[in-house]
Amino acid sequence: MAGSVGLSQALSYARDLKSLYETSRARERELEQTQERLRNAYQQSLQYAIDLRKTYRRLQHAILQSLLGLANALEAKDPYTRGHSERVAALARRMALGSGIAATTADIIAQAGLLHDLGKIAIPEGVLRKAGPLSAEEWVMMRQHPLIGAQIVAPLEFFAEGAVILRHHHERHDGSGYPDGLRGELIPLGARIVAVADTYDALTSDRPYRARLSRAEAVRRLEQQAGRTLDAALIALCVRLTDDAAAERAV
Ligand SMILES: [Fe+2]
Repeated sequence: MAGSVGLSQALSYARDLKSLYETSRARERELEQTQERLRNAYQQSLQYAIDLRKTYRRLQHAILQSLLGLANALEAKDPYTRGHSERVAALARRMALGSGIAATTADIIAQAGLLHDLGKIAIPEGVLRKAGPLSAEEWVMMRQHPLIGAQIVAPLEFFAEGAVILRHHHERHDGSGYPDGLRGELIPLGARIVAVADTYDALTSDRPYRARLSRAEAVRRLEQQAGRTLDAALIALCVRLTDDAAAERAV
């Protein structure tokens, strides 16, 4: 009798254990399914984030391209400045990389090089194209262009560093520049690079008042500005880089 009670109890335990095991297996499966759903949701949100970043980049690019269109339209009207900003941008990028600046920042410096004179869009054409010397009043107008350029790009949060370069590209090493009279290393590095590239390109391009200078004469005049209006180390870098380019063209 006692034996049959013991057996039926053991059978009951076994049934309970089996049912417990099945319940826990079912939970495990549910957990696995939930984890799978979570993994899928995570992958999907990751994909959304990537797509969103791509869209944001495309938008940034489109905005900069339209500003560039404006700057090009301004330049195209004047045969003496046509292509100037693109050359300044290319040289500024090489100088930035040559200074050990990271590629993403070098890109911003190059974009600022493309747009550095965007503010001239607000300067009357009679002043921009005047062949003779500007009057004091006209100079006041002309000196507004870095501020106007920086104001135009100010709403573009992703281009904040570029806006700083537009604002300061006419500062001078000795503090005699505008708009803020910054001196030496207080002038942002990107603005110092664009200033050197801008000056080098102006010296080696035709102007209404003189033909383009030979490379030797341009280098001589640029080096005269070392430590006066422009950063000496950046002038040396510019001379070295453009010398390599001149040598490559000669081959
Ligand atoms: Fe300028």
